[in-house]
Amino acid sequence: MDFKNKVILITGASSGIGKQTAIEFAKLGANIVLVARRKDKLEQVANELNDFHVSTLVCQCDVSKKDQVKEMSKIVLEKFDSIDILVNNAGFAIYGSVSDLSIDEIESQMKTNYFGMIYCIKNFLPSMLKKKSGHIVNIASVAASFGLPGIASYCASKFAMLGFSEGLKHELKDTGVGITVVSPIMVRTDFFDRPSFEKMPKYSPMSLSSKTVAKTILKAANSPRLEIIVPSVVRGAVWMKNTFPYFINPILGKSFKKQLDSIKQD
Ligand SMILES: NC(=O)c1ccc[n+]([C@@H]2O[C@H](COP(=O)([O-])OP(=O)(O)OC[C@H]3O[C@@H](n4cnc5c(N)ncnc54)[C@H](OP(=O)(O)O)[C@@H]3O)[C@@H](O)[C@H]2O)c1
Repeated sequence: MDFKNKVILITGASSGIGKQTAIEFAKLGANIVLVARRKDKLEQVANELNDFHVSTLVCQCDVSKKDQVKEMSKIVLEKFDSIDILVNNAGFAIYGSVSDLSIDEIESQMKTNYFGMIYCIKNFLPSMLKKKSGHIVNIASVAASFGLPGIASYCASKFAMLGFSEGLKHELKDTGVGITVVSPIMVRTDFFDRPSFEKMPKYSPMSLSSKTVAKTILKAANSPRLEIIVPSVVRGAVWMKNTFPYFINPILGKSFKKQLDSIKQD
């Protein structure tokens, strides 16, 4: 797909995967709407995008707040009429057992990771449907396929994102608007810098760069597929889990539980 002069809106564009996705789209001449809470970080990203001579719009917005998303979408649609690609990337996890996390902590992950995506889709989909074109890319995780101890509520938010996307994909058939989920595993970003991950091993040698994931997001923006798992080799693990759940689930559950227990003991 030729992204030149297309309008790409990326939530969570102030760091990590979202920032790198903005850079990769801008390299191809796309205009970029940068959305996140930290305005100073977004402005730094916008400055970096100046090198590519594209139009940028910085929108400070907490996607978990539906009034803020509504206000942000008004500003964006006033400037650009419609957007071509919506990348729902804003998200985070809080590590800890369900017994240890508060209801507010569990709820906050759902509000940003799941409802944030819904608020953006509800505000931008009508203009895409009107012009009969556009693509939504939702950034889930391999945690959308495995319920794991220590990140149960994060997994739930990503399972929900995948299920919603699958249902919506059927609804969008023949409308000209597409939707694809990108599900990465272990990416070197600020994601694990939250205090709850303090005692966790940070990255393995197999961790992905945000550039690898950003390039997959560009492919997803024009893909007929429901889900793209990155790296693709992990598709084998998801297939194994779905095909032999009674074999795979106890193995994975045991290893993640062991890690959770060892961190609790420290
Ligand atoms: N890193 C991984 O290993 C990994 C693996 C699988 C999936 N993912 C997913 O990839 C996505 C991006 O994560 P990342 O790895 O790039 O982590 P990151 O560097 O921490 O980036 C997270 C981004 O989300 C934004 N954000 C968080 N809460 C927000 C809110 N309420 N409203 C608006 N923006 C919000 C943050 O910006 P502000 O703080 O400025 O708002 C930041 O730009 C997430 O959805 C994550 O679940 C990550």
